[in-house]
Amino acid sequence: MIAIGSDHAAFEFKEAIKAYLTEKGYALEDFGTCNNERVDYCDFGFRVGEAVASGVCEKGLIFCGTGVGISISANKVKGIRAVVCSEPYSAKLSREHNDTNILALGARVVGIELAKMIVDIWLTTGFEGGRHLERIQKIARYEGGDNCIGTQH
Ligand code: RB5
Repeated sequence: MIAIGSDHAAFEFKEAIKAYLTEKGYALEDFGTCNNERVDYCDFGFRVGEAVASGVCEKGLIFCGTGVGISISANKVKGIRAVVCSEPYSAKLSREHNDTNILALGARVVGIELAKMIVDIWLTTGFEGGRHLERIQKIARYEGGDNCIGTQH
């Protein structure tokens, strides 16, 4: 199950990505927003982040005007590694090297066709593990309160 959410600035963008992925056979859980009324992007970043961190959803897609505010919010949820990007290269590498579990896009930054390409690549690229695993484990240790800066694995 893929969690999806946006603020008002990206509502139509979310609906377009939702229709695109549903057509491709993905199962999605929509955490809102559900219209153009002004909302706080952080609520949707937190909701999608919690759905992914808890394991209810395996990955998440979040959108706001720039992708910035909603990605910052999702990254405050323990266990979330959200990337905001506007091109496929970073989306791909964020999966291979950083095992990102949430992708954020800016509806006012990327066109919908580019967005579909980025989403496709992000959803279908796997994590490489190895040395990259040790680094994300270190991030998790730091997040858990361990002052592991500069320590060896
Ligand atoms: C809403 O106007 C806008 O601030 C929001 O969508 C987002 O871009 C914040 O980072």
